[in-house]
Parts: sequence; structure tokens; C-alpha cells
Amino acid sequence: MSHILVVDDDKDVSDMLCEMVKRMGHEAERSFTLKEARQKLLSTDYDVVFLDVRLPDGNGLDVLPFVNERPSTPEVIIITAHGDPDAAELAMKNGVWDFLQKPCSLSTMKMVLSRALQYREKKDQERTPQVVLKLDGLVGSSPQFRGCLSLAAQAASGDISVLLTGETGTGKELLARAIHTNSQRAAKNFVVVDCASIPENLVESVLFGHERGAFTGADRARDGLIKQADGGTLFLDEIGELPIVIQKSFLRVLQERRFRPIGAKREEWSDFRLIAATNRRLDKMVAEGQFRTDLLFRVQALSIELPALRERKEDIKDLAVYSLRKCCERYGTPLKGIAPELMEIFMTYGWPGNVRELANTVDSAVCTGLHEQMLYPKHLPTYLRVNVTQASLKGAGDTAKIGFQAHSETADEFTTLDVFRDRIVHEAEEQYLTELLVYARNDIREACRVSGLSRSRLYALLKKHGLARG
Ligand SMILES: Nc1ncnc2c1ncn2[C@@H]1O[C@H](COP(=O)(O)OP(=O)(O)OP(=O)(O)O)[C@@H](O)[C@H]1O
Ligand SMILES: [Mg+2]
Repeated sequence: MSHILVVDDDKDVSDMLCEMVKRMGHEAERSFTLKEARQKLLSTDYDVVFLDVRLPDGNGLDVLPFVNERPSTPEVIIITAHGDPDAAELAMKNGVWDFLQKPCSLSTMKMVLSRALQYREKKDQERTPQVVLKLDGLVGSSPQFRGCLSLAAQAASGDISVLLTGETGTGKELLARAIHTNSQRAAKNFVVVDCASIPENLVESVLFGHERGAFTGADRARDGLIKQADGGTLFLDEIGELPIVIQKSFLRVLQERRFRPIGAKREEWSDFRLIAATNRRLDKMVAEGQFRTDLLFRVQALSIELPALRERKEDIKDLAVYSLRKCCERYGTPLKGIAPELMEIFMTYGWPGNVRELANTVDSAVCTGLHEQMLYPKHLPTYLRVNVTQASLKGAGDTAKIGFQAHSETADEFTTLDVFRDRIVHEAEEQYLTELLVYARNDIREACRVSGLSRSRLYALLKKHGLARG
């Protein structure tokens, strides 16, 4: 949808144009004076401006330089009752899209507007580089995730250092691999350095390699990971864990692509692209003196932040189905379905472990319900069901607080306390019982145990609320 501004003091013309714009599926705003138009142009990014020449507070053409300076550089269509050739020339010199003379047919205006909008669309497409990633195993179509993919595509088409940030399990390593496989280095190695797991005293030899006899136990020369990444990509995972002394020597490697293996007389060379990842706040570490500013600066020529799964719920369904398909293939079982109640839980749970946790949960549900065609909430790991049930009970409490009103707006009367209390108790009971049945997986004995209710009392309550089965 595009944004159109109609600047005309003739109400009939302005009404007609706004109506036409809306019918074409776009948004129209109007101003009757130049002053109003300037204010609107300052606060909104318009795609097209219809501009009258003679306005109550001045000449519309005077506003053209101001329009051209707006960040969205709208296209301007002049509409005037006065076919002044000089004005037309001035308008064209200021780069307006078209100059129409009133009276002008609706179809002409429509056609001119459509062309202007098509032109802008094409211009936008040309501006955003259309690099497409080969997306092997990368699932997600939310705007947030697509934003990451588009940055990754940019990274893959160049050779700059990339820093990937995001919570655990958001897909940093997966995206790093995607950048590598889509880059011109794809035929060479993708070397992973897990900075968190290398013992501090070995970091140097692991990264830079060593000569034979360089230290006790070095019975032969060995290439470091930096050398192995020659021609390819070096993925420094958990870069925040790199000891501060190593950060210094690594900075030099980054600047010159040169390094000296331990015990070696000569320096070696390695041409690698660096991708680093972390789920720590490196800027905070810099402030606390735990991470070098110059290294951070080098590492994050391009920075991509992977969103947490709870911030892009649109992707949950696709990821769950993708994980399910992979799991069923792995276990050699026919593809199962996901019951709507289970999908509902997937959508409401917070996923602190992000995509990894979702994939593991699906895996565990497939194992539990290996012989079933459809997966239900009962197939979930207990910790997750307890978490979701507790959260929903808490949520129901909150709603109760907000949702119940003692004052009925329709009848304009204040409810008696007894009526108010009965209503809340009734609804709270119903909510409780519904959750209880889910939690106890419809097992009445378990429901009695959890709720502290006797069997007969539980049945009576279920009947009262129409929840009794059979
Ligand atoms: N968009 C996605 N599509 C499909 N699978 C994904 C996606 N994102 C992550 N995964 C899967 O989730 C798991 C975790 O991803 P990955 O290891 O890349 O996360 P990470 O951000 O590096 O986590 P950590 O910070 O814990 O190292 C992997 O099995 C990965 O394949
Ligand atoms: Mg990782």
C-alpha cells in the first residue's frame, strides 16, 4: 500500500482524488493549504503528491524543492486549472512526474498515478540487492527472520567479517554455515572454533598451530584452525570467551592475515573470512574491560541479530512441522499430525531455548507417541506441560482481575456483591477445572489428587460446568 498526499483547495477535486486513491487500495491524505502540506510532508513518508498550483497561501510550485528533499522523495503530479506553459516548464525542471490540466478525467489520473507507483516499485527493487540465499534447512518467513536472511545474503555476496548475535538456539551457527555455502568460499573449509570449550592454555596452539617440539607433548608439527580455514571461513563461536591475551594476537591475525605457529621461526599466511558468534553483550564486555574495542570493531563489520523465537511466533508452526518431518524420517515412521491443542501450546510457550528447544521438544513428543498418528499435549515432556499450565492459570487470574466488572455498562446498574462473587467463582471454577483436566490428562484419580477434591465432589463440579464426559 502506498501513501498519497492530495494538496488542493478545491474540495470537489480533492474528494474525487482521495476516493480514487482509496479505491486503488492506497492511503490518501489531504491538505488544503501549502502550510498544511509542509507539515504533513514532514511527518509522513509519501510516495506520490498530487499538487495544485494556485493555493490560498501561495504557489504550489514553490514547495517542489521542499518535496524533493523529503527522505521518501515522492513523485509529484501537478494538477492545475491554469495551463501556464512557464509553470509547466518550471515543474518539469523540478523533476515532477506529470503535469495535468483540469478538468481531467478520472481514468487519466488513475493511469498517471499507477505509472508513477509502478516506477517507484521498480526503483525500490533495484535499490535493494536481490541476492537470494540457498536456504538448505533454514526455515522461517517472519519479517524479522527474512530481515536476517537478507543481511546474510549481503554478507555472502561480499567478504566482510560478520558478527552473529542472539540467544542460545536461535540459529547462529546455522546462519553462519549458510553464509559460507552461499559465498565464493563455499568449496573450501568451514572451520568451527568453539572458544568456550578450548582450555585457555591450549587456545594459542589450537588457533595458530605449532612446530614439532614446541612444547612438551608436541611430538609433531600441527596446523592450527586458522591455517585450516585458508580459502574458506573461520567461525569463531562464543567469541566473548576468547581470553583477553589471545584477543590481542588474534586482532593482528585479523588485520594482516598473518600469524606465527608456536615455536615457528617464520610467519604463515591464511586467507579466511571471519564469522563470529556470541550470545553475550560484547559492548557491555568492552565497557567492563573484558573485550577489546578494536577487536569488536574489526569483527562486526556487519552485525546480524537473530530474533528469539517468542518474538517471531509466525515461524513456530513451520519450524515445528519441519522438525516433525525430519524426526519421522529419522525414526522411519510415517509422518504424524500435530493436534491443534498441541500447536496451541507451541504458540503460547516462551521457548527460552529457542529453535533448538522446539526441535528437541518435537523429537521427544515423537518418541513418546511413536505409535500414534497424531501428537497431543500428553506427548510433551512434563516440565513443559507444567510450565504452560501454570502460566495459563496465572494468566486466567490476571484476566479475572481485569475482565470482571461490578458495574454493568449496558444495564447501568451496580451489581450486588453476592451476584458479583457468584459470577467470579463460577467462571474461576470452570477455568480451573478445564486446566485441571488438561494437566491430569483426563485421569480422574490424578485430578482428585492434584486438586484435593473428593471423587464425588469433582464429578459434581464437572457436571455443573458441563465438563463431565460420556
Ligand atoms: N531457522 C531455522 N530453521 C531450521 N532449523 C533451525 C533454524 N534455526 C535454528 N535451527 C536449528 O536449531 C538448532 C540450534 O541452532 P544453532 O546451533 O545454529 O543455534 P545457536 O544460535 O548457534 O545456539 P548456541 O548459542 O546455543 O550455540 C540447530 O539444530 C539448528 O539446525
Ligand atoms: Mg552455536
